[in-house]
Amino acid sequence: MARRAALDYPPLMMDANIAKRAAAYAAADLVQDNTTIGLGSGSTFLFVLDRLAERIAKEGLRVRGTPTSIDTKNAAEQKGIPLVDLDQVERLDLAIDGADEVDPQKNLIKGGGAAHTRERIVAAIADELVVIVGESKMVDALGTTFRLPVEVLPFGCTHARRRVEATGCRTELRQKGDEPLVTDNGNWILDCTYDRIDDPVTLAARLDSMVGVVDHGLFVNMTGRVVIANDEGSVRILS
Ligand code: 5RP
Repeated sequence: MARRAALDYPPLMMDANIAKRAAAYAAADLVQDNTTIGLGSGSTFLFVLDRLAERIAKEGLRVRGTPTSIDTKNAAEQKGIPLVDLDQVERLDLAIDGADEVDPQKNLIKGGGAAHTRERIVAAIADELVVIVGESKMVDALGTTFRLPVEVLPFGCTHARRRVEATGCRTELRQKGDEPLVTDNGNWILDCTYDRIDDPVTLAARLDSMVGVVDHGLFVNMTGRVVIANDEGSVRILS
């Protein structure tokens, strides 16, 4: 199967939107009154904001959100969702976020939108990370349909790149136009092609301890429920 390049999505088709919207709405309906939640990033997550705005208007839902990216912060503000800064909260009741791949153990590849570093920081203080995906994101092994994003400091990037490649992958520096894409944190992204990632726990630990690596998109043992929707809009939840 051809691998999707991060940020290189095909034009959105109607059926892809149906799955995204269905998963996002089901997850937004899990949000309880008087709670503080982590707001993920990406095109699927944007539908969560729509539903939360609807529930705030119709039910008077009291919810505050902590965004994982500047894009999400802007979108949430536009939709009138109350925000709270990460450093102002002790914990979050829930975090909701999309993913690029989900394996049978609910390990993830994230970072197609280059927001995975903040997404992990937010998810780490949430009582539960709820992941929302279309059926096509469910895979037998990570790395088989999507490249693993690794955020690196621009300083000494050549050396970080060599260290990352020593884990058994090819890397490509993510571009925006003719320049390296710069994350919300001022860093760069290496998109890493593995044949498949059979041992995400070990790979995550290696990348965690690597000089020059800020964070990576392997989310291991972090996921609570996965809300999965198909192109007809049917939803199932993996607990
Ligand atoms: C951003 C992410 C996104 O959640 C992930 O890329 C899924 O995005 P989309 O819902 O647009 O497919 O990890 O860093």
